[in-house]
Amino acid sequence: MNKLLAAIFLALIDIVFSGDVVHYEGYKVYQIYPKTVAESEVLNNYEGDTNFDFWAKPRILAAPVDLMVAPTAQWSFEKDMESNGISYKLLIRNVEETIQAENVRLRAAPRVEPGEVTFTEFMRHDEINAYLQRLETQYPDIVQLEIIGQSFEGRNLTLIRISSGGANKPTIFADATIHAREWIAGSMALYIINQLVENPENAALYQDIDWAIIPVANPDGYEYTHTTERLWRKTRSTGTICYGVDPNRNFDFEWMVAGASSWQCSDVYGGYAPFSEPETGALRDYLLAHKDNIKLYLAIHSYGRYLIFPWGYTNALPDDNDLLVAVAERVNSAIVAVGGTNYTIGTSTNVLGLAAGCSDDYAKGGAGINLSYCVELPGGGNAGFNPPATSIQEIVQETWEGFKAYHQYIQETFV
Ligand SMILES: *[C@@H]1O[C@H](CO)[C@@H](O)[C@H](O)[C@H]1NC(C)=O
Ligand SMILES: *[C@@H]1O[C@H](CO)[C@@H](O)[C@H](O)[C@H]1NC(C)=O
Ligand SMILES: *[C@@H]1O[C@H](CO)[C@@H](O)[C@H](O)[C@H]1NC(C)=O
Ligand SMILES: [Zn+2]
Repeated sequence: MNKLLAAIFLALIDIVFSGDVVHYEGYKVYQIYPKTVAESEVLNNYEGDTNFDFWAKPRILAAPVDLMVAPTAQWSFEKDMESNGISYKLLIRNVEETIQAENVRLRAAPRVEPGEVTFTEFMRHDEINAYLQRLETQYPDIVQLEIIGQSFEGRNLTLIRISSGGANKPTIFADATIHAREWIAGSMALYIINQLVENPENAALYQDIDWAIIPVANPDGYEYTHTTERLWRKTRSTGTICYGVDPNRNFDFEWMVAGASSWQCSDVYGGYAPFSEPETGALRDYLLAHKDNIKLYLAIHSYGRYLIFPWGYTNALPDDNDLLVAVAERVNSAIVAVGGTNYTIGTSTNVLGLAAGCSDDYAKGGAGINLSYCVELPGGGNAGFNPPATSIQEIVQETWEGFKAYHQYIQETFV
């Protein structure tokens, strides 16, 4: 059966059984180590094929690529690697087992009290909103919630604004979990919020600078990863064959020019039109309405250990590449100084490969926010897509040092 028919067939099964939990029995995750550009290009052949799902796909050589492969494609994949002399190892033997182990643990874990926050578990969308609402009630002088729109399925897109008051102050904007399965990104956003609002030691960080943060930018997809399909990445809008659009290929800046798919069932489907998704449209509207104040745009993703910035649509460097590198180096140094992750810094295209229609390209090229980054948090390993919940605390604590360094630069430059 050719790939297209196979994909349509799988998509139909998905629709027939929608509502049922999606399983990954026999799916394997390989870690691959391409050593040359030619070896790297062999891997590109799998892009867009629904038997293959890149969990981490750096373009720089020497960094490992994590690739999930469906059972029917494993034999030919291994042959392909061997005939091309590309070294690889098995990272996860059976993805379903790792997901089931995570589910068992999640079911046994106590849920967070309404209105509270936790960094030892991944939280659900309603729990996150309850926490934000509690903060607004308890800290009315500094916290304001704004519903910037509704998702396709009608969930609130909640933004929290943290400010000491006054209008038109320099603002740091961050969104997280626009890719549904990247749970650690949501924990990171919540930790920033928690540290700013509830840790008095950090009160200076919102005196001159406002923060605007959306912890769950794709709530439909996020909930779907909890209830039905752990590895879902896209939105949940209905297509004619498959569900969902990759929101991070749906922004209208050089939309679809490279590194995005026009095939609905692809995980990097750019949509039938730019901003076809209410979630991306709401982000655009907020960014455009506040672009004169927003001095720094941060898209929080996982996983990778990359501090990347535009462009994603071309391998050309932005005019202010040196500045973007210098600020990223300050951020990385702050994280490394506490014994944290040493990030790779560079443009999206040069570090990860072409990907047009991303939010950070739009923030810079479309909304004119010069300082625009995508933070790819650590994750992965053999525990599944996300780091285990026991690692959340360590990751968010070390990365918070980096966010403080971003703040320091904005404070020095714009206040
Ligand atoms: C969305 O937010 C509004 C305003 O806070 C609230 O009244 C409504 O109940 C929320 N909707 C959902 C689905 O949570
Ligand atoms: C971080 O990575 C860079 C580039 O690979 C390297 O030069 C540097 O020594 C590393 N720093 C630490 C603390 O490992
Ligand atoms: C953004 O960068 C451009 C070109 O480097 C510069 O002219 C402009 O003033 C910058 N905008 C802001 C708000 O700093
Ligand atoms: Zn992502």
